[in-house]
Amino acid sequence: MSTRPTQQPPITLTKLVEKKALGEPIAMVTAYDYPSAQVAEEAGVDVVLVGDSGAMTVLGYPSTVPVTLEELLILAAAVRRGLSTPLLVGDMPFGSYEASNEEAIRSAQRFVKEAGCDAVKLERGGTSVERTRAMVGAGIPVMGHVGLTPQSATALGGYRSQGRTAERALEVLHDAVALQEAGCFAIVFEAIPSALTELIMPRLHVPVIGIGAGPATDGQVLVFHDLLGIYGGHTARFVKRYADVREQMISGVGAFVE
Ligand code: KIV
Repeated sequence: MSTRPTQQPPITLTKLVEKKALGEPIAMVTAYDYPSAQVAEEAGVDVVLVGDSGAMTVLGYPSTVPVTLEELLILAAAVRRGLSTPLLVGDMPFGSYEASNEEAIRSAQRFVKEAGCDAVKLERGGTSVERTRAMVGAGIPVMGHVGLTPQSATALGGYRSQGRTAERALEVLHDAVALQEAGCFAIVFEAIPSALTELIMPRLHVPVIGIGAGPATDGQVLVFHDLLGIYGGHTARFVKRYADVREQMISGVGAFVE
């Protein structure tokens, strides 16, 4: 099992590029509170995302859409307190960046100033390309996210794999290249066919982190509660579960009740 020796230098954007160049896989997980951040720190994770998936995994919403910027800022600040080495990325929630470049910059600045995040992530291509350029121009590192973008799942026809038609595959490719050109330091590919990932990878010099996008990416990301088996709700078919913590928690609490 890989655990991080103490006193490691913090992971920087340059370090991620170096890892890509060396073919060293980048490990990214989500975290939503102080203890999950400490676990990510000790397990040697490179990038921690305070994902809007926390809307479902820890706040009990039915999707990622209702979570507010204020709610994610509280989670992100708690994660910051438990983390010193991994790069910390705050996920910009639906409704916090779409309306204008100014709104995007203001929301991103809050993640950096109030919660201590190193970077932010936003979803989709389209207007998000312009928002990315604006935030990068304002000095904030931005991670992109293409393929299945849960904030727009309804418009995409539900939580389903993307890029299966030639037209949609081209859209995913164009979005990824446009986000790179707008200054994203890394891009998440979610739920697209491995063959499409293989086709796009040679066009990207920034690190690509996959989730349900095959093995050709520079790293992989999983939702903390999915990989540890904590979340009782629906999980995607591509999620690999590495532990069954929920069962252990129920049996522990059950033993106390007895
Ligand atoms: O919110 C989230 O957890 C995410 C990851 C799946 C990349 O966006």
